[in-house]
Amino acid sequence: MVDVHCHLNFKAFEEDCNDVIKRAKKEGVEIIINTGTSLETSARAVELANQYDNLYAIVGIHPHHADKLEDGWEEKIRKIAQSKKVIGIGEIGLDYYSYKSNGIVDPKIQKEVFLTQIQIAYELNLPLQIHNRHAGEDIIEILKENKDKLHKIPGMFHCFAGALDVLSQALDLGFYIGFDGNITYKGLAPGETVSLPDLCRNTPIERILTETDAPFLSPEPKRGGRNEPSYVIITGGKIAEIKAISQKEVDLKTTQNAKTVFNI
Ligand code: NI
Repeated sequence: MVDVHCHLNFKAFEEDCNDVIKRAKKEGVEIIINTGTSLETSARAVELANQYDNLYAIVGIHPHHADKLEDGWEEKIRKIAQSKKVIGIGEIGLDYYSYKSNGIVDPKIQKEVFLTQIQIAYELNLPLQIHNRHAGEDIIEILKENKDKLHKIPGMFHCFAGALDVLSQALDLGFYIGFDGNITYKGLAPGETVSLPDLCRNTPIERILTETDAPFLSPEPKRGGRNEPSYVIITGGKIAEIKAISQKEVDLKTTQNAKTVFNI
């Protein structure tokens, strides 16, 4: 299996990153992709990828950091993105959800930073890894307006949530769809109207990617604790159950999908 989106580059893994990577490999996680959210964590994702054969990096500025950027950030991220093991630009996008730890960043600034990074991905021939929370319609609109800057395989929506209509438009644009450990949770997340299993049912297996978003979103029965890439197997099991196919088939298809999207 592949974990296409986690954050071993975050502090939560400072102490035992090596053990976590080894454990994932032993459990059958073939490839781990660490995603940056800022210049610092993007650089750290590259540093990690350079230390392990089966690790890759996706680099970019998360919408939460869009209003904390200094002049010249574009050139810095462009430079980091040219490292050999960088396979995508992310996590980039829009977030209109008000968190306890982070209010809503001015949508105008979020959009500017998103657009700049779509341009960088276009120039560097890299797919996008999109973060969307309660902003699906605006994201789809931006992607449609910038269709000429999307590659043949444009990338993926990470940790997909939202309306069925947003899902179908993302699929029409050619995007792949990532599901995480929260697909095992009962009920709906705040403000959502469609359950994750229903979104999964409406996504062809040929377009599904598996991810953890570790250290966040631990699947049941690990919920509440630190998530890690080896738990992507639990998410694979849940997808198998939803799709009524074998876990082996989920493993084979989603691994192939990840290799296709990220050209690895
Ligand atoms: Ni993330």
